[in-house]
Order: sequence, then structure tokens, then C-alpha cells
Amino acid sequence: MLTFSIIKADTGGHVGHSAVHPAMLATASSRVHDAIDAGLLIDGTVAACGDDISLIMTHQRGTDAADIHGFAWDVFQSTTRVARQYGLYGAGQDLLSDAFSGNLRGMGPGYAELDLIERPSEPVICFLADKTEPGAWNLPLYKIFADPFNTPGLVIDTKMHAGFRFEVYDLHEHKRIWFDCPADLYEMLMYIGAPSRYVIHQVRSRTLDEVAAATSTQRLSLIAGKYVGKDDPVMIIRAQSGLPAVGEVLEPFAFPYSVAGAMRGSHHAPFMPVSLGQAHPSRFDGPPRVVALGFQVHDGLLGRQRDLFDDPSFDEARHQANVVMDYLRRHGPFEPHRLPLEDLEYTTMAQLEARLADRWEPLPSPGRQPATSPA
Ligand code: F6R
Ligand code: MG
Ligand code: MG
Repeated sequence: MLTFSIIKADTGGHVGHSAVHPAMLATASSRVHDAIDAGLLIDGTVAACGDDISLIMTHQRGTDAADIHGFAWDVFQSTTRVARQYGLYGAGQDLLSDAFSGNLRGMGPGYAELDLIERPSEPVICFLADKTEPGAWNLPLYKIFADPFNTPGLVIDTKMHAGFRFEVYDLHEHKRIWFDCPADLYEMLMYIGAPSRYVIHQVRSRTLDEVAAATSTQRLSLIAGKYVGKDDPVMIIRAQSGLPAVGEVLEPFAFPYSVAGAMRGSHHAPFMPVSLGQAHPSRFDGPPRVVALGFQVHDGLLGRQRDLFDDPSFDEARHQANVVMDYLRRHGPFEPHRLPLEDLEYTTMAQLEARLADRWEPLPSPGRQPATSPA
């Protein structure tokens, strides 16, 4: 059994919230190499999307393992120290606790993990995003694993005819449900179409009885009770041989769908698929970015990394994202560019409401004189 983990955190930005400083990446990489030498990890690499550092790791400790999570916590302490040393922005932003206590749940860093029995050839794609939220994966996961217009394999490959099981979390009420697709498809869409609250956590192949995809499902704003940055998500998807092909996994990102999270975590903007070299959201702290890193995992080793959106066939999606960004920006502080108030409630709306509570007065009842405005 092999465990594939991505653990990520924003521990400081360069410049502002736009990117990670190379010195922080160098520190994280050297810690990962030490952990490989020490036998904690089988393999590992470090990548950044926007101001978030992701540790991409293989090991044999299982998901939610205390020593793996503790290691990641230590690495993020180290990168925070580098960020302080260089005066980088928001040093230690996602580290919400003073001390590590056995598991990263609720502590700020996000993580996606899955256990797998390595197939003779094991293609794995890691998605890293910046300036958005975990529910941003709902739309592509639905298309990849449930929509035959995206994934012809659902029609052509008999190993996919039985469909896929989706585990969906309710982030507000801390509960979960399984949907068997295609049977439960319409019911599931009712929930996952509201991605700020309902988030796909895992997808399993019904034929292979294996995990095909796992996402990070933390929401920092809910954890911290106030706005502390955006919980930029990560996702792992296994591909091929009875699972969707690499091209089927990437296809949904050819449409730059709108996600929540740009500028102050408070705006909808198009999700732009980019290479690592372009994963630095600088216009209006956006548009939100997604990178896809492909690996042929072999004997637990990651092998050579492929930067999968570094491909001109995604140029049109990037162009459309820029057009949509211009269109949305012209709404300024109005919805649907700005998030609906319910979502802002989890950021700063509550404070504003508390401040204005005394100034609200009831509307006059019918037949009464209109209230005069205060002098
Ligand atoms: C951070 C983000 C940014 C910040 C914005 C304000 O991931 O989404 O849009 O919210 O730059 O940042 P502060 O409040 O740190 O000045
Ligand atoms: Mg930041
Ligand atoms: Mg970020």
C-alpha cells in the first residue's frame, strides 16, 4: 500500500499574495530531501501555485499519519521563518495554531491524500490552485467522472459503465453523504452546484473499488471564524486503465469556469489553467490559477514531473479567462462579481452587521407617515 499526499499552506507571499519566494521553496525542498534520506518519505517534491507551497509526497504511513502531518507542519514553520527573515507578506498566514497536535485537521494547512495499490503503470495528476476554495473542484470532478460529453470512457470503457461514487461534505454542518452516479446524478448536482458549502471530498470507481480522486476540503474562514486568507485547494486524480484518461481529466479546464476567491476572497473570477511559470496571480489578485502536475508513479517514486497545462491547447481557455475577467471586473462591488452576502458572512460581513445594528430601524407600517431622515 502506498499513500500519496499533497499538503499545502500559504506561509508568506512575494510580492503581496502573488507568489512564493524562491528561498522558501529551496528551504522546503531541502527538508523534503532530508525526509527522503531519513526514510520518512519514499519520494517528494515541492511546487508552488500563487502564494501557496505544496509538498507532494509518497510514503507508506497511510492517510492522516501523525508523522507525515507533523513533518509538513515543521516544514511550514521553517518556510515561515524564511518569510519573516525576508520580510515577506503574511508570514505564517495559514498556520492557525501555536503547536502541532497529531493531525493537521483544523490547523490551517490543506491536504489531499489517498491510499493506493500501485498498478503496473500509475499515472497521477496533482492539481494545485490559488485564489479559490475547495468547492472549485466540484465542476471538473462531475465532468470527469459523471459526464459522458467530457469523458467518452464512461460510454466506451466497460470498466467505467458501473460509474463512480462521490463522497460529498457539508462544510457548514460537518456531515457527509455518498452519491452513486449515474443513479444519483441529479440529486448530487443539487448539492455540488453550491460549491461554497458542499464539496466533493473523494471519488471511487465502483468497478475497481479504488479511490480515483481526493481533494482538500478545509475552509480556513470556517476554521478560524474570521477571514484569514483563502483556503486554496489541492486535488489528486489517478488516471487511465478503467479510470478517466489524462486528457479526460484535463478537459474540464479548457472551460475557464467561474470560481469564488479572487481579491480578498470575496469575488468570482474565471479559473485560469496555467503552467507553473504563469502561476502568479497578479491582476486583481487573480484570476484564480490552477496548475496540473503529472507523474508516472513507479515503485512509489514520482519520477519526472510534467507541467500539463504548459500546452498551447489551453491558450484559448486563458484568453477566454481574460475576456471574462474584464467583463466581471466591470461589475465592481456588485454581484455576481462580488460573492453573495451569505458567503461574505464567513469573512467580514458579520463585523459590519454588528457595527450597523443600531442604525437599522423598522419600515413604517402601511398608512403611517414616512419616517423623516435624521438631521
Ligand atoms: C489572498 C487574497 C488577497 C488578499 C488581499 C488583501 O490570498 O486573496 O486578495 O485578500 O490582497 O490582503 P491583506 O488583507 O493581507 O492586505
Ligand atoms: Mg497569502
Ligand atoms: Mg493562496
